[in-house]
Amino acid sequence: SVALTGDLVADARAAGRGIAAFNVITLEHAEAIVAGAEEAARPVILQVSENAVTFHGGRLAPLAAALHALVVSSSVPLALHLDHITQLSLAEQAVECGFSSVMFDAGALPYAENVAATGHAVKWAHANGIWLEAELGYVGGKPDAPQTAHAPGVRTDPVEAREYVRATGVDALAVAVGTSHAMTSRTAELDHDLIARLKDAVGVPLVLHGSSGVSDENLKRAVEHGMTKVNIGTALNIAFTGAVRAHLARNSTQVDPRRYLAGAREAMVRVVRQATETLGCPDVA
Ligand code: G3H
Ligand code: ZN
Repeated sequence: SVALTGDLVADARAAGRGIAAFNVITLEHAEAIVAGAEEAARPVILQVSENAVTFHGGRLAPLAAALHALVVSSSVPLALHLDHITQLSLAEQAVECGFSSVMFDAGALPYAENVAATGHAVKWAHANGIWLEAELGYVGGKPDAPQTAHAPGVRTDPVEAREYVRATGVDALAVAVGTSHAMTSRTAELDHDLIARLKDAVGVPLVLHGSSGVSDENLKRAVEHGMTKVNIGTALNIAFTGAVRAHLARNSTQVDPRRYLAGAREAMVRVVRQATETLGCPDVA
């Protein structure tokens, strides 16, 4: 069923659990996320990044129509989120497509410019019924991202974070606590003490980006320390591409995409099921 991102995040936070947000690129990603969530019997967020919209020709509507059809008939609550946008004009497409939330990404800007741009985005979002996430403290690793304002190793400062949330009115805050986007090994070293201090400092849910680089144990600890929305993209792509590569290596003459996409989709289902189970169980030994 269709859920609101804000409700799923609030419910997870109240229960001391995490809520996974998976990045959709292809239809098979979306099918796998829904199937994995249903098998785990847990709600999840499906998110489409600005980069993915660009890949699909700059229009959100075609992919959004498929997502809606999948979500409406699902046995678990699922929300639709537009991820990492730098242009507010794209958020208008999110409203038209029935998405309930947007991540406005000004994280690479200097503090004052980030506050001004994000504050404007929040006003627009709330006037349009959109839950808005923003980023303070740059989570590096995005392709083509500007590297000037913050080095990838930078951390979000709790005092600055409290002021940022107050000044902008954001509904959730993405923070830099040791992750980096597009990691293909799960070796990120999280600053769990900083997560706890950020949780105490800001009154809104925290969001972890670049979560593919985080081990299951560290994901559980991050949730225990106060992380709520956990964004996972690359882990799906590792599973997808690995399955395709292995299949084509064994079957060098096949041309029907269904032959190799079936295995890719199944590999992504396993990632979704595993991650949602990890995040739903914060009481790790
Ligand atoms: O916003 C999307 C996420 O931060 C995903 O990052 O692809 O490194 O898991 P990832
Ligand atoms: Zn991200």
